[in-house]
Amino acid sequence: MTNSFRTLDDVDVKGKRVLVRVDLNVPMDSGKVTDATRLERIAPTITSISDKGGKVILLAHFGRPKGRDEKNSLKPVAAALANVLNKQIAFADDCIGEAAAKAVAAMKDGDILCLENTRFHAGEEKNDPAFVAELAKLGDIWVNDAFSAAHRAHATTEGLGHKLPAYAGRTMQAELDALGKALDAPKRPVIAVVGGAKVSTKIDLLENLVSKVQALVIGGGMANTFLHAQGIGVGKSLCEKDLAPTALRILEKAEAAGCAIILPVDATVAFKFEANTPSQAYGLDAIPADGMILDVGPQSIERIHAAIDDAATLVWNGPVGAFEIAPFDRGTVVAAKHAAKRTKEGKLISVAGGGDTVAALNHAGVADDFTYISTAGGAFLEWMEGKPLPGVEVLKK
Ligand code: 3PG
Ligand code: MG
Repeated sequence: MTNSFRTLDDVDVKGKRVLVRVDLNVPMDSGKVTDATRLERIAPTITSISDKGGKVILLAHFGRPKGRDEKNSLKPVAAALANVLNKQIAFADDCIGEAAAKAVAAMKDGDILCLENTRFHAGEEKNDPAFVAELAKLGDIWVNDAFSAAHRAHATTEGLGHKLPAYAGRTMQAELDALGKALDAPKRPVIAVVGGAKVSTKIDLLENLVSKVQALVIGGGMANTFLHAQGIGVGKSLCEKDLAPTALRILEKAEAAGCAIILPVDATVAFKFEANTPSQAYGLDAIPADGMILDVGPQSIERIHAAIDDAATLVWNGPVGAFEIAPFDRGTVVAAKHAAKRTKEGKLISVAGGGDTVAALNHAGVADDFTYISTAGGAFLEWMEGKPLPGVEVLKK
């Protein structure tokens, strides 16, 4: 997959103005970056262009502003990135027009400049050709290193690729390489673990997966909908009853495709959604009518372990229980640790992604032990759904 488009190996960047689309949409609290993972991931691309004498002009969005809005300025993020890189980064107050043109004109070879939030202009999300043309004036080539924004067909994530010679950055390459190994050309058998609250947000994803993987673990609140669809009482648990037909359709599709569906066989039930509230494991035939399923039970964890042991490749999205409150994080933590152990033993290729998933794996303390953790949220989901990502498609020759 990575070989089908041009990368930084295919271009001499010396003296060139390189427009580099990165994802600087990092979590912030009171003006401070609280998780710098995305900044760390783009460092190799920036450093390699700068070291080779290219002028690095960073383009990125932050938040979802409607027009110019100082709360969504990229200035503090650029400062945090300068710390991560241990290099100076100049900043321009606008991504087009005179402010941007002046800042670019002042650059020397190897310099790094960050332009202000591209979403301060409506043309960004509209992928407006006039806005694309303004941006294109600032650069000689375009490098896309923002896999996590590649599900957006915006001016800086897609439009520029039609206007300037386009290349994949190092993080983009690494993401596509890792994800390709997980679903496109994986070592079989492949197991997917999908959790999270709702079936409704993951219908396309489940339907795509059942035709691609040999086993699918369904956990989290969404498992309750499947149990309910099969006539199992789930008490007061989170459950999308109206989606029972959808759940049954997915089960049928899985059976036709030869994909084993691994649903919980027991459940950890509590009577309040509260940390450390009393809880107990129940068999599926005995879920109390006033109880809530907040995690998979111990027998289910055993089954998940056995299924992971049978797999050569694992792709994970979504926690299997209410991992944000103890002790309902147990199923997710124990399964994540098991996957990490198998990976460390060289027996499993493990790939995970999606906002909550990375938080859950960090919580389990195993994020570094997985083969690859994607920094993407929405883009990871769309990739799991089997949808083409505009920011990737435009890079293909
Ligand atoms: C993300 O944080 O998932 C990406 O940067 C995309 O942001 P968006 O969902 O606001 O387009
Ligand atoms: Mg998003």
